[in-house]
Amino acid sequence: MIEEEVLGMRNPTSFLREEYDELVKSELDWKLRVLQGPSTPWCNVDGKKVLMFCSNNYLGLSNHPKMKEAAIKAIQTHGAGSGSVRPIAGNMDLHVELEKRLARFKDAEASLVYQTGFAANAGLIPQLAGKGDLIISDELNHGSIIDGVRLAHGERGVYKHTNMQDLQRVLAEAEKHDPPYRRILIITDGVFSMDGDMAPLDQIAKLGAEHGAMVYVDDAHGEGVLGEGGRGIVSHFKLGRDKVHVEMGTFSKAFGVVGGHVSGSKDLVNFAYNKSRTWLLSGSHPPGVAAACTAAIDILETEPKHVQTLWENTRYFKKAMKDLGFNIGNSTTPITPVIVGESGVAKKLSSRLYEEGVFALPIIFPMVARDKARIRTIMNAALTKEDLDFAIRAFGKIGKELHIIK
Ligand SMILES: Cc1ncc(COP(=O)(O)O)c(C=O)c1O
Repeated sequence: MIEEEVLGMRNPTSFLREEYDELVKSELDWKLRVLQGPSTPWCNVDGKKVLMFCSNNYLGLSNHPKMKEAAIKAIQTHGAGSGSVRPIAGNMDLHVELEKRLARFKDAEASLVYQTGFAANAGLIPQLAGKGDLIISDELNHGSIIDGVRLAHGERGVYKHTNMQDLQRVLAEAEKHDPPYRRILIITDGVFSMDGDMAPLDQIAKLGAEHGAMVYVDDAHGEGVLGEGGRGIVSHFKLGRDKVHVEMGTFSKAFGVVGGHVSGSKDLVNFAYNKSRTWLLSGSHPPGVAAACTAAIDILETEPKHVQTLWENTRYFKKAMKDLGFNIGNSTTPITPVIVGESGVAKKLSSRLYEEGVFALPIIFPMVARDKARIRTIMNAALTKEDLDFAIRAFGKIGKELHIIK
């Protein structure tokens, strides 16, 4: 027993070890793998050469020569850091250029870059809906949206996952509220990261318009993937900015770098940067990051092959996995869950895949329902057909070995 406890005193830090031990005991702790080198199709994880099957680097841009060149050049011209938050002394020409390029890419009046996507959701959502307002959220929205909503002073409504009848029900109830809500904000992920299914954003936008609600989409997994040249879900559904008012995203996935962003009207951007505490009170991106993000937009605009190959690979892999008899859920995007049921089976499948040279991690409770444990694969444009066949063979062999497929 610890000495303070014997004396009946409060131990200020004992909970750290106790709670960690509890997580380890219930196998809910993260065991971190180490990537030794760049995130490439064949990469080195914990000293073993494996095929990367779970990175968000959809287009393989994180190691693209133009991106590395842009980052190095920016470090040479602007240094390693920005020196400040943007409202004081850290607003560099590189940040301004990136926002201009992003707005053009998104076909929006204006864009604003945050340090991360999490910072965008956590900083902006609480400002959009305060006292007397209602935020309506899909039940499976990302944790950064959930935390943004928790920080907001508005009331909350939740609708069943992608269920438009249920959204209609929540909106109809909202209309009866007395006094009437000042504002209504509907928030959804564009692509849901655990299942790879898409939000019916066209229908959400329609319902939003009928009720005078602001519509906010988090397109972290849709950009670089959906829409014309990877412009994202708003482009995919060909929706106007009058219907989807906040298009939020991140440079940390298909763009291959790091950084959150929002696009929409000039009014939105002026409001957002003056009010988001995560934007105002946190240092701006180092020059290398800002320049690499701009280079990623350049690549998307000039090298359409990456998005095309991503979709070819996605179709090839999904078909082969279905033919093998795996349950790959209802995904319509490059995120392909391989649903196996029990968490023990998912963990075993992941560790056997690693032994066979495929890196894909298990997703288990509480991230998904107890009986829906899975391996979440994420397709990559840089994978060749030979790579895909290699992974498919490994899945087939181990799937049979673990009696997941026949
Ligand atoms: C849907 C969604 N929103 C936001 C984020 C956060 O983005 P970032 O990595 O830029 O903080 C993620 C990343 O996991 C995400 O999947």
